[in-house]
Amino acid sequence: MTVSQRNHGGALAVLILALLFPALFAPFSYASPSLFSEWNAPKPRHLRLLKSALQRENSNEQQSDLWTPLANQGWTPCVDSTNGPPLPNESQGYLQVFLDGGLNQQRMGICDAVAVAKILNATLVIPHLEVNPVWKDSSSFMDIFDVDHFIDVLKDDISIVKELPDDFAWSTREYYAIAIRATRIKTAPVHASANWYLENVLPVLESYGIAAIAPFSHRLAFDHLPTYIQLLRCKVNFKALTFVPDIRALVDVLVSRLRNPADQNEVLGANYLRAVTDAKNKQGPRKFVVLHLRFDKDMAAHSACDFGGGKAEKLALAKYRQVIWQGRVLNSQFTDEELRNQGRCPLTPEEIGLLLAALGFDNNTRLYLASHKVYGGEARISTLRNLFPLMEDKKSLASSEERAQIKGKASLLAAVDYYVSMHSDIFISASPGNMHNAMVGHRTFENLKTFRPNMALLGQLFLNKSMSWSEFQQAVEEGHKNREGQIRVRKPKQSIYTYPAPDCMCHA
Ligand SMILES: *[C@@H]1O[C@H](CO)[C@@H](O)[C@H](O)[C@H]1NC(C)=O
Ligand SMILES: *[C@@H]1O[C@H](CO)[C@@H](O)[C@H](O)[C@H]1NC(C)=O
Ligand SMILES: *[C@@H]1O[C@H](CO)[C@@H](O)[C@H](O)[C@H]1NC(C)=O
Ligand SMILES: *[C@@H]1O[C@H](CO)[C@@H](O)[C@H](O)[C@H]1NC(C)=O
Repeated sequence: MTVSQRNHGGALAVLILALLFPALFAPFSYASPSLFSEWNAPKPRHLRLLKSALQRENSNEQQSDLWTPLANQGWTPCVDSTNGPPLPNESQGYLQVFLDGGLNQQRMGICDAVAVAKILNATLVIPHLEVNPVWKDSSSFMDIFDVDHFIDVLKDDISIVKELPDDFAWSTREYYAIAIRATRIKTAPVHASANWYLENVLPVLESYGIAAIAPFSHRLAFDHLPTYIQLLRCKVNFKALTFVPDIRALVDVLVSRLRNPADQNEVLGANYLRAVTDAKNKQGPRKFVVLHLRFDKDMAAHSACDFGGGKAEKLALAKYRQVIWQGRVLNSQFTDEELRNQGRCPLTPEEIGLLLAALGFDNNTRLYLASHKVYGGEARISTLRNLFPLMEDKKSLASSEERAQIKGKASLLAAVDYYVSMHSDIFISASPGNMHNAMVGHRTFENLKTFRPNMALLGQLFLNKSMSWSEFQQAVEEGHKNREGQIRVRKPKQSIYTYPAPDCMCHA
């Protein structure tokens, strides 16, 4: 028995003990995560498909169809003028919000805060972004978004201040954290109506001149609001919120390296895009796909699916669920097969690679990986990289100096991925979530091609171990015919930020 095998045996025993008696281990299970490290390198799970995918030959016709931009679908953005009531002569007071979640959730909160300020005729204080326990980034609104642009675009709709005047300087996050305060609104229901704000927040503004709402995520309804409020929400999301110039400049550089790999003569800290052939280099700017892959441990554990890392991985994920959610994970009452049949498992890097290959993307496809951390690391990513050797990410495209300004800052990294994604010819996400929804909405607004994986179909296809590559490919193609960015009109209760038509788009 080698030393490492022996260590694994020991760690496994501790892990089983920890699972049986979580309380016993609680004090140090956070402190020494390495004890529970997942040592089995995840192996490809769909070897037969993978073998064929690696030898795939895609026709030129299929290629050009894939890259053809979406035709005009008869919808155009119409948020330039919201036609709302004019700014009141006098503000009702200051409105503060404290926003939880990752960057994309906070983004929706900002849009809703502008809408609520308009409903109340209040002056909005630039929203405070809370530090998220998973992402741990303390970047402020002004570190991420171009605040002057924000204020300027919305100047005819609401008044906004960067900071509270001295009279109200006491109204801070810390002030609300330590005691119950009359100016804090804590009870805003999820998807509250405009009337709820008029009845519950306006009186606070009238009495104190200020109201602080927290929590505020998902606190404004999507239905039964005046048209000008819906238009205003879209105007904030799609026009007023732009990233700070440094982020935009960095993304411009990254996108130009993706599009013109041959021009990339500077010495970079990391690998270059491989120039394919001289002939191809003369074709002008290249097209690229952004693949958003959220496949971190948190997501893997929460989905409760089996991702092929063997017993050790299953135990490690079960342990994580136990520690973080005390076992309260809805998915864990289903078997892996049930979850897959329902399309409730995020696609692994291998599976999204097989999907892209089946959709017709060849091995010359430029793929930008928008991703934070991939659970299983390079061992999992390498399968995808074998299918798409021209895969890049922030790290491979930017020099270490360029990366220094965003390093370790999850919100700024997410901002870079968001903005690169908006520049891509095609966007696809491996799991439905906030980033996927944000992109579906924003790219619908701009009529950009966006693939939506058919999760239930894929779950079923991947369960079938006897499918040939051509059967798989045919089923994938048929199951994704109308999932390339075709306009879907918003239904009641759906988010205006995911489905901007018809509220914020006009039908020509
Ligand atoms: C806000 O201002 C508009 C126009 O000035 C006015 O019609 C509306 O009643 C005001 N609403 C509130 C809540 O003050
Ligand atoms: C707002 O101010 C303008 C000009 O200062 C004035 O003409 C108008 O009557 C005022 N409106 C109200 C509702 O006070
Ligand atoms: C793509 O695949 C073909 C044959 O399947 C191979 O000859 C070529 O080298 C591959 N290209 C890249 C960039 O790996
Ligand atoms: C698996 O796929 C094959 C080929 O399409 C099909 O004949 C078979 O019925 C499928 N099996 C299951 C269990 O769905």
